[in-house]
Amino acid sequence: MDSEIAGLVDKLTETVRRHEEWRRLECINLIPSENLMSGAARLLLASDFGHRYSAPDHFYMGSRFTDEIKEFAEDLARKVFRCRYVDVSPLSGHVCNIATLLLFAKRGDRMISVSPNDGGYPGISHLNLGRILGLQNIYFPFDEDTFNIKTDEALKLLSSENHSLTVFGSSLIPFPHPVRELTHNVGDAVKIYDGSHVLGLIAGGRFQDPLREGCDILMGSTHKSFFGPQGGIILSNNDAVFTRIKENMHLGLVDNIHWNRVAALAYTLMEALKFGSSYADQVIRNAQALARSLDDRGIPVRGKQHGFSKSHQLILGYEEAQEKEKIAETLEHAGIIIDKGIRIGTCEATRRGMKENEMDEVAELISGLIQGKLRPADAKVKVTALSKEHQALVYTLDT
Ligand SMILES: Cc1ncc(COP(=O)(O)O)c(C=O)c1O
Repeated sequence: MDSEIAGLVDKLTETVRRHEEWRRLECINLIPSENLMSGAARLLLASDFGHRYSAPDHFYMGSRFTDEIKEFAEDLARKVFRCRYVDVSPLSGHVCNIATLLLFAKRGDRMISVSPNDGGYPGISHLNLGRILGLQNIYFPFDEDTFNIKTDEALKLLSSENHSLTVFGSSLIPFPHPVRELTHNVGDAVKIYDGSHVLGLIAGGRFQDPLREGCDILMGSTHKSFFGPQGGIILSNNDAVFTRIKENMHLGLVDNIHWNRVAALAYTLMEALKFGSSYADQVIRNAQALARSLDDRGIPVRGKQHGFSKSHQLILGYEEAQEKEKIAETLEHAGIIIDKGIRIGTCEATRRGMKENEMDEVAELISGLIQGKLRPADAKVKVTALSKEHQALVYTLDT
């Protein structure tokens, strides 16, 4: 038995080691929902806080330092996002969605958001939370050409449909949504911006500014374009809306807060304060450079007439599911990691110090692989070399 357990321990350690070696040394990660955390943040994530319980009424003894961590993280988030209210307790972006949908809509209510067919987050659509909570999902009219909500038609929809929630933000979001145009004088629905994808760009002041453009809530994942631990955050300037969140979050929607995650988040918020703008600038420049270089080599990228992208994402212009899958798999054989929706993101590559020149090298590899001019095994050698040259993180407080 002992030797069996020892064997299992070895197997587990070996699997994690192989994963780390592969993803960190031999791959270039272009998944837009992923990023890398600094070394110090990783240590905080592994700290003793990860074993502990706490409660707002201090039911659990031994939790004297959790309040400090909470205040520390929330103060920093208030500075980074220039807002009055912060809640760091949601365990993920999806939990932020569950919380806000549950708190601000009831069964049978209408909610307006971007359709999953147009890159909206499927998690809140009629396929998932909308169905589970018995909401009526209504979708914004969407322009395939500008890859954005059609402002005039959406205004009509927002004024004519009685609805409880308007949700901006998407999973596919190369361009800012017309939030200012669609929030002023358009009913009394709660206006939410799901910034899961673009939170790091918002933090850097380089995408859009939902709380000043008219949204009641900005919320989302802290680990996509924002380079924090996997988790969620809710931000607001609206007293009544935030009071409702605060009063219901604990034990209604989350119980224990994962303080190790909050400590790591605090560290990455400090990094955002110091490097947020320069990081966001380079992420966007890299997305645009990669798109241009792919386009120069004959790879279809959507939104060319609008500059391809103003975010961390670019979207390849393939429609067929099988074709997309084949491309994603071919790239994976060469160590270039994307998703099967053919979304490409530049956050992690930027964090590893890659700039426009490296984007051109990556475009050469991707185009060669898609066009069959380059064998995955040959591309893999080049990907590994490029990856090994970019092991050190930038935009970090690590020394
Ligand atoms: C727009 C959007 N919101 C929420 C989520 C869920 O985020 P999380 O994985 O943090 O739960 C996603 C997932 O990718 C997303 O794209």
